[in-house]
Amino acid sequence: MWPLPGARASRCLLGSLRRAAPPPPPSPPRRAKCNLTAYMPEAGGFEEVRSPSQLQRFSVSSGERFWAAAARHRLSWISDFHTVQDCDLARGRIKWFDGGKLNVSVNCLDRHVHANPEKVALVWEKDEPGSEVKVTYGELLEMTCRLGNLLRRRGVKKGDNVTIYMPPCPLAVASMLACARIGATHNVVFAGFSAEALGERIRDAQSCAVITANQGVRGGRLIELKKTVDAAVSSCPQVRNVLVAMRTENPVEFTHKDVDMEEEMRAEEVVCEPEAMDSEDPLFLLYTSGSTGKPKALVHTQAGYLLYAALTHRYVFGYHDGDVFGCVADIGWITGHSYIVYGPLANGSTTVLFESTPVYPDPGRYWETVQRLKINQFYGAPTAIRLLLKYGDEWVQKYDRSSLKTLGSVGEPINTEAWEWYHNVVGDGRCPVVDTWWQTETGGICISPRPSDPDAEILPGMAMRPFFGINPVLMDMAGNKLTSNNISGALCISQPWPGMARTIHNDHQRFIETYFQPFPGHYFTGDGAYRSEKGYYQITGRLDDVINVSGHRIGTAEIEDVLNQCPAVAESAVIGFSHDIKGQAVFAFVVLKESVEASQADVTRELSGSVTKKIAKYACPDHIQFVQRLPKTRSGKIMRRVLRKVVERDPGGLGDLSTMEDPTVIQDIIQGHRDLLEVNQRERQ
Ligand code: PRX
Repeated sequence: MWPLPGARASRCLLGSLRRAAPPPPPSPPRRAKCNLTAYMPEAGGFEEVRSPSQLQRFSVSSGERFWAAAARHRLSWISDFHTVQDCDLARGRIKWFDGGKLNVSVNCLDRHVHANPEKVALVWEKDEPGSEVKVTYGELLEMTCRLGNLLRRRGVKKGDNVTIYMPPCPLAVASMLACARIGATHNVVFAGFSAEALGERIRDAQSCAVITANQGVRGGRLIELKKTVDAAVSSCPQVRNVLVAMRTENPVEFTHKDVDMEEEMRAEEVVCEPEAMDSEDPLFLLYTSGSTGKPKALVHTQAGYLLYAALTHRYVFGYHDGDVFGCVADIGWITGHSYIVYGPLANGSTTVLFESTPVYPDPGRYWETVQRLKINQFYGAPTAIRLLLKYGDEWVQKYDRSSLKTLGSVGEPINTEAWEWYHNVVGDGRCPVVDTWWQTETGGICISPRPSDPDAEILPGMAMRPFFGINPVLMDMAGNKLTSNNISGALCISQPWPGMARTIHNDHQRFIETYFQPFPGHYFTGDGAYRSEKGYYQITGRLDDVINVSGHRIGTAEIEDVLNQCPAVAESAVIGFSHDIKGQAVFAFVVLKESVEASQADVTRELSGSVTKKIAKYACPDHIQFVQRLPKTRSGKIMRRVLRKVVERDPGGLGDLSTMEDPTVIQDIIQGHRDLLEVNQRERQ
């Protein structure tokens, strides 16, 4: 059964919680102020601000006043905070709303149940087209409470970590909220990661429980989630229980650790006392790739993260009460956390959980879903837009998209062609497209158009303007701030904001070194950006060895680690190259050991299999080129920038080779690359 039947409105717990002092009532409207209060009620008390665009500057220059008003207006507190912020970026100290106590699940559920238990919280767009399931706020609260009680009964307590390995579905959302309710942190792992990658994350997070489903269903295919969890958990002795939900009717073998989650939830109470959490208690860990071989878990905390997700959801997408918000990401990524779960639910929205793919059963799937569910805001990835664009306009035009108000894009740069198609064909030229730039680390959108601001123009393919409280700066490589316009540099953010990650789990030093040491006193994003003549931002891509495949972030070092572990491989170098659908794809240069007798085709298969097994399918190289030697500096560093030029077929632009130990290496690589392309072309014909 999925979701639990017989759900009814539970006793609302909000009554037992004291709401912090309500915001001061807006002062009697004067003509110029009137607009602003209507635009953002929390800005009602800012006498000196006259327009939405002034409000952005005010939110940066008077950050404490802005965020205090927003936090008191938008969140329900058990007890009020005494300090708005206490941050020192150079030391990696980031604290917001100190002294405050709240519960995130109460903010996402109870207060909306109090207002209207029958309002739909989730629309689960299952893989099987036309079989959506609606879950009301009352039902979601009940599910969350039963699950919270079950976790508590199984020994999970405040401060423990629970790994969630599930596709988007109501029980996955309830699992996240149940952790939040009892004060445990969650660690959602994208259900496409392999058993080894999952096991590594469970061990690093020290999870005491795992929540999964028997199987997943995607694009009509079954995915053996439970088997993957079994393989992962076999090397995680600290996991006491695996809670298993049934997505399909196919039975799976249960081990002594396994719990029939839905069966046990039915026996639990429908009321679950929420834990009073400090603003800065951790809410979740989320693993992402960096430039080293080891994925890192960013830690987000309670109040600041929730407030930032809620505020960006409201103001970037122009969300209004009663809208249906459709973010088609997976809950395993930060986009799913902030814009399927926490932002929309904190705002009392109806949020869609999309389980399928853009092309199942055909390339009209997104737009048929928009028509059927009457989606008002659609938020997706450029890779899917580029893919659908190739199938032609008729797959879009077949369906009624008149409900759409805003179209969002996330995860990678959106090229002008895809932007124009999204705007003109999908949005019929009437819906603003918001190209939203942000990261797992930033918690929510940082640079993006805000169509709700009447003064603000939007240009194709540009993330445009900073969100409230965000102060972007561009730096040159010597660490000087670039103050003019029409200039490119390293993108940094010069003051803290409530949604930013607080640390890397178990490695605060790495947190400081990665984000705050490259440009002291600033948060360094790892991205490059261009600021136009008019002061608008365009993201130009990563400056480090991280690539972005179909919007999924992966470190080249992570893939090299896997390749180098294969017995046939002496060494390897991985780079990203432009791909017309995926944005970027993986190219691996591999040096084999001399003793290898297997054919190159066999080794290629083995290496691809290894990457799939140890990381995930999306990280597999599109091309593997075997070379005698890699280009290296005299000190032995691999010169990846030269390899990038070879793959871009720009040998004329190889750049300065004076530091290369043996420049003759490169001619062999260029010739080998030509041969590889010819072979690939012949195979395609
Ligand atoms: O390089 C930027 C790219 O995605 C990276 C963040 O990846 P992740 O933490 O997985 O979060 C993805 C979803 C927020 C960034 O450092 N990126 C994200 N959004 C954009 C983007 N690049 C260009 N334009 C964007 N709108």
